[in-house]
Amino acid sequence: MQPLTVLLLLALAGVFLAWYVTYRRLGATRQQSAGLSRQIEECRGLQKRIETLQSLLKVVHSVLLLVDEDHHVVYSNAAAHRLFEMEVRDIPSTGDSLMAITRHHELDDIVRLTLENESDEGVGYQIVLQGRTYRVQARRVTIGGKPHVALVLEDISELQRLGRARRDMVANISHELRTPITSIRLLTDTLQRGALSDPRRGPKLLQKIVTEVEFLEQMAQELLDLSMIESGRVEIRLVPVELAGIIREAVGHFSEQAARKDVTIEGLAPPHLMVLADPDQVGRVLNNLLHNAIKFTPPGGIIEVSVALEGEWVCVAVSDTGPGIPEEERERIFERFYRGDRARQGSGTGLGLAIAKHIVEGHGGKIWAEQASPSGGARICFTLPTASL
Ligand SMILES: Nc1ncnc2c1ncn2[C@@H]1O[C@H](COP(=O)(O)OP(=O)(O)O)[C@@H](O)[C@H]1O
Ligand SMILES: [Mg+2]
Repeated sequence: MQPLTVLLLLALAGVFLAWYVTYRRLGATRQQSAGLSRQIEECRGLQKRIETLQSLLKVVHSVLLLVDEDHHVVYSNAAAHRLFEMEVRDIPSTGDSLMAITRHHELDDIVRLTLENESDEGVGYQIVLQGRTYRVQARRVTIGGKPHVALVLEDISELQRLGRARRDMVANISHELRTPITSIRLLTDTLQRGALSDPRRGPKLLQKIVTEVEFLEQMAQELLDLSMIESGRVEIRLVPVELAGIIREAVGHFSEQAARKDVTIEGLAPPHLMVLADPDQVGRVLNNLLHNAIKFTPPGGIIEVSVALEGEWVCVAVSDTGPGIPEEERERIFERFYRGDRARQGSGTGLGLAIAKHIVEGHGGKIWAEQASPSGGARICFTLPTASL
């Protein structure tokens, strides 16, 4: 072989070798870069999942805290930041100690107990934080091979208040039912034992039974109205309606009861005055107001239903010559179950005005109490929108 050929061959072999090495290197680089793109993709996927979880946790109303074995808060959601007025940190981060953030040793004890307990079962506790009651669920979780505690705090104050109101209501109703039922029982016993044939006592006792039954009817109606309102089944259908007709009907409904107590009811409304209202519901408001007025007005008294036009609104007022409502009670009487000190002796559930307020506000109107005249008496006023024809 000629030296030139050898040289050429050597050169060729050299070039080939260089190409081969470069080719292998390129292959490895390509593999590395493919691996890198895969890792970048995975990272993006993880980032997306973190963002999704973070936005979900932001809208959760419960307070969420993740605490490590040194009692440091490593994750907290927006509800936790609001409750403990925390600085917002990104996750993952090693935060301050649970005690520094919450200043609540019971929570710290819960974390300690959960860490000591080997079981992964969640345990429920109840604590009071800033005057509100929270149900705490604590569960031991393992993250990165290390034990942590996940805490979920739910504000149950409102639930507790509702439960209490319901219990009060049952106690209240049972008590209120017992009084008229006992007197009806006594009255019927007396009638059966001979008073029925007594021309003087017979009708009197019967009348007393009628009064007790009327009270039971009013109470049943108020309870039914309240349960309808609370379950959202009361629909207020506004139609143009003549106010005088509604007032006439309500006054007519109570004329007998009032006469029996020697109380006069005067109800005047300008004819053709139209309001935008639900006639049945407004009738209910007037019923509750007139029922109270009769109850609180002593014999010989006067109840007056009056109407005044104030721009786009009609103001309806029921005034009486009873003892009136003390100024400090005038707002509270519209609360459910609220009964004035003086009223506690007599019958009632404390629901009538709460129902009236609900209905009036459903019409967009307002309801309030004032003194009827300088000499006293109560006046309850409410507004309704006029119907422009
Ligand atoms: N016309 C009135 N005169 C005096 N007090 C009244 C009158 N109307 C309402 N009140 C006071 O408002 C309270 C709440 O009224 P209401 O909700 O109808 O409950 P109830 O009649 O069952 O006691 C009454 O207990 C009473 O103290
Ligand atoms: Mg009442």
